[in-house]
Amino acid sequence: MPTEFISVTFPNPSTEINPIPDAVIDPDYLVRYARTLDDYGYNYTLVPYDSSSYDPFTIGATIAAHTKNIKIIIALRPNTLPPTVAAKALATLDQLSRGRAVVHLIAGGSDAEQAKEGDFIPKDQRYARLEEYIRILRRAWQSPDPFDWDGAFFRFKQFSNRVRPVAVDGIPVSVGGSSDDAYRVGGALADIFGLWGEPLKETREQIDRIYAAAAAAGRPEGDRPRIWVTFRPITAETDELAWAKAHRTLDALRANRGAGTIAPPPPPTSTSTTTGQRDAGGPQNVGSQRLLEIAGRGDVHDRALWYPTVTATGARGASTALVGSPQTLAESILDYVDIGAELISIRGYDNLNDAIDYGRYILPKVREGLKERETKADGPGNGSG
Ligand SMILES: Cc1cc2nc3c(=O)[nH]c(=O)nc-3n(C[C@H](O)[C@H](O)[C@H](O)COP(=O)(O)O)c2cc1C
Repeated sequence: MPTEFISVTFPNPSTEINPIPDAVIDPDYLVRYARTLDDYGYNYTLVPYDSSSYDPFTIGATIAAHTKNIKIIIALRPNTLPPTVAAKALATLDQLSRGRAVVHLIAGGSDAEQAKEGDFIPKDQRYARLEEYIRILRRAWQSPDPFDWDGAFFRFKQFSNRVRPVAVDGIPVSVGGSSDDAYRVGGALADIFGLWGEPLKETREQIDRIYAAAAAAGRPEGDRPRIWVTFRPITAETDELAWAKAHRTLDALRANRGAGTIAPPPPPTSTSTTTGQRDAGGPQNVGSQRLLEIAGRGDVHDRALWYPTVTATGARGASTALVGSPQTLAESILDYVDIGAELISIRGYDNLNDAIDYGRYILPKVREGLKERETKADGPGNGSG
């Protein structure tokens, strides 16, 4: 499978560095952004989920109607939609988009966030529910006959689905996270496994854990989840200019946090238990805990991975920056390809302009590097002629 690029969908021009308070959907902006990604050859756009934000399915259908190639990753929390309804909604989008739907399933990294929409089960149970949910989705997409389900979280009788995904093997399922439960469920059942940007060594360790979970679930090497790694690149013509821009970005993030337009990071807490859960107040999801721990060890890791943006935003979601010229960034991204990343998510801080810059200067350089690697691998002396 080739290396592919992911971006994130934005419904209006509000950004973390230039927030527009109470911005509503700007349909022209949404379409312009999505078409930009499509035109520059990004492969996917994630439509994220948050308890207080827009409905990803409607946004996804709009993107599908105005683009040709880009795949639409719908972020979905199992507590928000019964699995039978989700199976049909995703297959509907898949048919509308001629086979471009993908689903990113979210166990839920925060009890408080889950409670906002009436979900009160603990995190380990949320992963058990996620596992059951994925099994139901797959069955609903494939079963030729009506079927019953009597599980720990869902129960129904004679569900019959006439809305099938375009591909016979269904819609790709992605799972993200960095906890043991995430590795176990995603390793066993996901087509794609999403990670936030960590240094190469830590990323490689996570990939090994995911592959080990896949093997433990009986999946052969050829059927392991494809690895997705997420970065927030800050780029300019030269490394020096990119670092100056990175510091301006950090100043803006801090100023906006001071002004209350970005939620403040949680107060410092102690990592307390062997399960990796923190005391009340700190991020409960292991992915964010790991980012903060790595940030505490230093600002710059490997070639260009930068952590002050993590600390400034309290490691809320994807927040590790990559800083440098397009050449430095392409080389950094290729380092991740070399350790097993197949899907590279890049989105910036100045959303639309950054998406254009990456499309012009970074995607082509990475693809060039990939071609060179292929040519070398196919060259004489490598056994493949
Ligand atoms: C690449 C990626 C994208 C994610 N997108 C979302 C999202 O849109 N909404 C959300 O609530 N959680 C999102 N998450 C969070 C997780 O899917 C998951 O619920 C959380 O990280 C669980 O934490 P864990 O690390 O403790 O397993 C995302 C995670 C990753 C790695």
